[in-house]
Amino acid sequence: MRLEVEVLATAEEIGRRAASVVLDELAAGRLRTLGVATGSSPEQVYAELAAAGARWDGVEVFALDEYVGLAPGHPQSYAAVVDREVREPLGLDASRVHVPDGGAEDLDAACAAYERALEERGVDVQLLGIGATGHIGFNEPGSPFSSRTRVVELTGRTVADNARFFDRPEDVPRRAVTQGVATIARARRHVLVAQGEGKADAVRAALEGEVSPECPASALRTFDDVLVLLDPAAASGLTERPAGPRRPRPVPAGAR
Ligand code: GLP
Repeated sequence: MRLEVEVLATAEEIGRRAASVVLDELAAGRLRTLGVATGSSPEQVYAELAAAGARWDGVEVFALDEYVGLAPGHPQSYAAVVDREVREPLGLDASRVHVPDGGAEDLDAACAAYERALEERGVDVQLLGIGATGHIGFNEPGSPFSSRTRVVELTGRTVADNARFFDRPEDVPRRAVTQGVATIARARRHVLVAQGEGKADAVRAALEGEVSPECPASALRTFDDVLVLLDPAAASGLTERPAGPRRPRPVPAGAR
């Protein structure tokens, strides 16, 4: 088991480092399936992947999660986000990009089908963000480490955090379909990216707190091969200083 934490100065550096892991696997012919996360954290990773101009022939993409209850084609649905931020820039064929069906009439059957497809393909590199609640995908606190793809209720904190993507607070979905913690765990490698002070508590709980479903991201410490990429603000709650550039010391007021 390997878990490495690196602190990098900017979102661009984080994007480059995360993209290099994916591109190295691709160049070595070991990337059949890429797991993608939505949210603002990995945006730079996708920009770097697109800029690399690599050939993605044969690579399948699986998203972690999807809202339940949005109208088909809603611009904030994760299907639309993955299409905009991943499929289009990388030039992938739509038939190779998979997102859970949050609009299915039989959601449980859709979850089971998604889980089966993931099990058959296997994910080589899984990109992850982390929610302020410590969620990965939409596995909120209390999600068992044995959980599989299923319908979940979002916490009030997550709904509030995601409200920035919607016109009105009442438009934010309260439910989602997400890969479970055990589903995510099956990937061969994981790269988690986090930026900003708002993630500092969740990052600390994930890396230094108890390994427990109360912080679903703490499950990373049970995975085989994990790289965590943080900016100084997201790393600011850690007591054990990881490698990488230190946080700049604050300049005393008198010295300015
Ligand atoms: C979202 C997604 C997660 C994501 C997290 C953080 O709601 N379901 O997959 O990692 O919350 O989002 P952001 O990167 O925008 O802070």
